[in-house]
Amino acid sequence: MSELRFPEGFRWGAATAAYQIEGAVRDDGRGPSIWDTFSRTPGKVHQGHTGDVACDHYHRYADDVALMAELGLRTYRFSVAWPRIQPDGTGPVNPRGLDFYDRLVDALLARGIDPLVTLYHWDLPQALEDRGGWTARETAEHFATYATVVHARLGDRVRTWTTLNEPWCSAYLGYGNGVHAPGVRDAGAAFTAVHHLLLGHGLAARALRAAGAATVGITLNTGDIRPADPDRAADAAAVRLVDGLQNRIFLDPLLRAAYPDDVLDHAARIVEPTFLRDGDEKLIAAPIDLLGVNYYSPTYVAGRPGGAGNEAYPGTDGAVEFLPPAGPLTDMGWMIEPAGLTRLLERLAADYPGVPLLVTENGAAYPDKTGNDPAGAIVDTDRIAYLDGHLRAAHEAIARGVDLRGYLVWSLLDNFEWAEGYRKRFGIVHVDYLTQRRTLKASARWYQEVISRNGL
Ligand code: FCB
Repeated sequence: MSELRFPEGFRWGAATAAYQIEGAVRDDGRGPSIWDTFSRTPGKVHQGHTGDVACDHYHRYADDVALMAELGLRTYRFSVAWPRIQPDGTGPVNPRGLDFYDRLVDALLARGIDPLVTLYHWDLPQALEDRGGWTARETAEHFATYATVVHARLGDRVRTWTTLNEPWCSAYLGYGNGVHAPGVRDAGAAFTAVHHLLLGHGLAARALRAAGAATVGITLNTGDIRPADPDRAADAAAVRLVDGLQNRIFLDPLLRAAYPDDVLDHAARIVEPTFLRDGDEKLIAAPIDLLGVNYYSPTYVAGRPGGAGNEAYPGTDGAVEFLPPAGPLTDMGWMIEPAGLTRLLERLAADYPGVPLLVTENGAAYPDKTGNDPAGAIVDTDRIAYLDGHLRAAHEAIARGVDLRGYLVWSLLDNFEWAEGYRKRFGIVHVDYLTQRRTLKASARWYQEVISRNGL
């Protein structure tokens, strides 16, 4: 295959999230989050797994940063656990929680690794959920306060700030189909949560900017939504509906200062939009410098009366059929289609010009087994192929003019994969959960070389 070079200064890195790796859920004054509650609720997470210990990163962060340095990572995306900073979500700040991220940031900088902070990767303080969580408008305001607190401590060293990770998941999986914490199943609540998440983003982005943050952004799991049959009008209509629910409902208010009319009409058939107040859209559209894109897999849909729909896309029942994923799948059962990443990046650049893009997550779960090679190494050829294909797809987007600034693999470490618990492994570094031993997989060595060559 031909050699590919990425632009000078391309940001190579890896991503993780607090609840998925830190463990130490009771250490140093951390309060409970909705994921502590949810993972302890029988039947919600595979085999009752919790994040209590996870990768014990809270205690092993220095070793993990050393690993990152060995791999040559230039950027590390991690999230701050709100319940470590404000155990009740509001009010008193817990300095010991801030101390942890302070140490982490210093360790990264000492190794020349640029810290990229995500302020919210799903671990809402339980005390706020008890007051309505993201269905309550006040949560958006509390989020902006929390953002200011974290920035006040880390802002002298952290340049890149993102507010939310994948609000689609927080809203539609958290409050729509109930597969994620807090486990609510209510389509109206899902739309209400979308709005308050976006409002929280806007208020936090404004506060961060006012406090002097250099780069402010948000990460979305924008989807590449495809028609089952490109020549069928009904399938095009299904694409439009699903694209509205997954992409435009976030992108339009963020980058065009208004919800799309078709999406508003659709949502209004499910819930009266009393949560939408005059001026909100303007607040949501606070300028951003970076759009984080998480991409794993495309979604194929057909328009069909009586179609089963999908509870994670409220109001698609009776109208849309989501096609089962086809071809070779990852261990998540997700389809592998690198071209979807090129299409998605090109589409974002075309429809929402002027915002630099960063792939903040991309990667694959495979059931890696230690000792599948005589030397005891983990030869994850499937993962290497997946990453290679997607990097080529990202490069193709750059070649077509997309302003893509970097790529962060999901994930540095095997970790707590939400409702799937520890049974899905996304790491380029293997974690033995009994001993907490880290072992570089072949993909880690491969990625190390990609970074050192700035290409493939
Ligand atoms: C994304 C999440 C991330 C991880 C990957 C596999 O939706 O942001 O935490 O679980 O999926």
